[in-house]
Amino acid sequence: ATETNILAIESSCDETAAAIVSDGTRVRANIIASQIAVHRRFGGVVPEIASRHHMENIVPVVSEALATAGLAFSDVDAVAVTYGPGLVGALLVGVAYAKSLAYALGKPLIGVHHLLGHIYAGFLAYPDLPLPAVSLVVSGGHTNLVYLEDHTTRRILGSTRDDAAGEAFDKVARVLGLPYPGGPELEKLAREGDPRAIPFPRAWLEEKSLDFSFSGLKSAVINYLHHARQVGQEVNRADVAASFQAAVAEVLVTKTLLAATSYRARSILLAGGVAANSVLRRELRSAGEQAGLPVFFPPRELCTDNAAMIGCAAYYQYLRRDFAPLSLNAIPDLPL
Ligand code: KG4
Ligand code: ZN
Repeated sequence: ATETNILAIESSCDETAAAIVSDGTRVRANIIASQIAVHRRFGGVVPEIASRHHMENIVPVVSEALATAGLAFSDVDAVAVTYGPGLVGALLVGVAYAKSLAYALGKPLIGVHHLLGHIYAGFLAYPDLPLPAVSLVVSGGHTNLVYLEDHTTRRILGSTRDDAAGEAFDKVARVLGLPYPGGPELEKLAREGDPRAIPFPRAWLEEKSLDFSFSGLKSAVINYLHHARQVGQEVNRADVAASFQAAVAEVLVTKTLLAATSYRARSILLAGGVAANSVLRRELRSAGEQAGLPVFFPPRELCTDNAAMIGCAAYYQYLRRDFAPLSLNAIPDLPL
């Protein structure tokens, strides 16, 4: 049999992305038009501007993906697209384009959940990752512990009650005067700091709770900086960054291990933009090792938003003929 080529499109936030993934594992093209430079001067993503840039970028990004893969439209077996969650105007550009293309080519359309895409970035790199697994999905908009029984059955074990982990990184980075998006910048600054310098609070919530809360930690950092300014005390920004990062990582790692052991998972999968963070990767891997659990994480460039992860998730949907009707709509708050 020949390969199954999926053309995947992702436009849920500020990246217009297209990829060609063959048989769910081979990334033949992974093109991303980033709008970071456009939104940076606003300190965050401006939805209306994002939509407009998606409209400009979608056609060239898809053409470039096909050219990179050395394929023509006629080689495409299915068109996959992120249809939620995300910014509705941004999602709509990808969804409308994917629907038209699937219709014109007479090929099936596959609607993919954005967070499932993040999770499948792990299966792209490790298709034989042992299941059941517990996945920690940490992005700019979400923080979830997800139990993955097999490729069709999953359950959310815990979620954030307020800010997402990436959102906390971005907000703390902003008060430290770092540019958007703050996560990677804060990680860089933290390298020169002492993670034990400031004892920021860890929100454990109720005993055994698998939920998260990061707004208290964010406020603690803001109060710390505010207090220092009032009493005229000099602040070591690198220490603040390192101590904040340590607090986030400790809570994420502890609760992920609790979830994995309570649910008898055979592996742990880290996913989402914050999964690019080296401290989180290192701490989770070492905690997993101590518990005898293998920890997997996608290569860094597949952690943040991209279309290859959407193409991989779509492949498993393709295998079970989980196709979307051409009436597929963007759903900004799509549940997992
Ligand atoms: O998954 P993603 O690309 O987009 C969403 O679906 O939200 O995640 C983006 C988030 C941002 O909050 C960004 O600051 C964070 O991931 N992030 C990081 C790192 N790289 C990206 N946070 C901490 N350390 C990093 N190295
Ligand atoms: Zn994302």
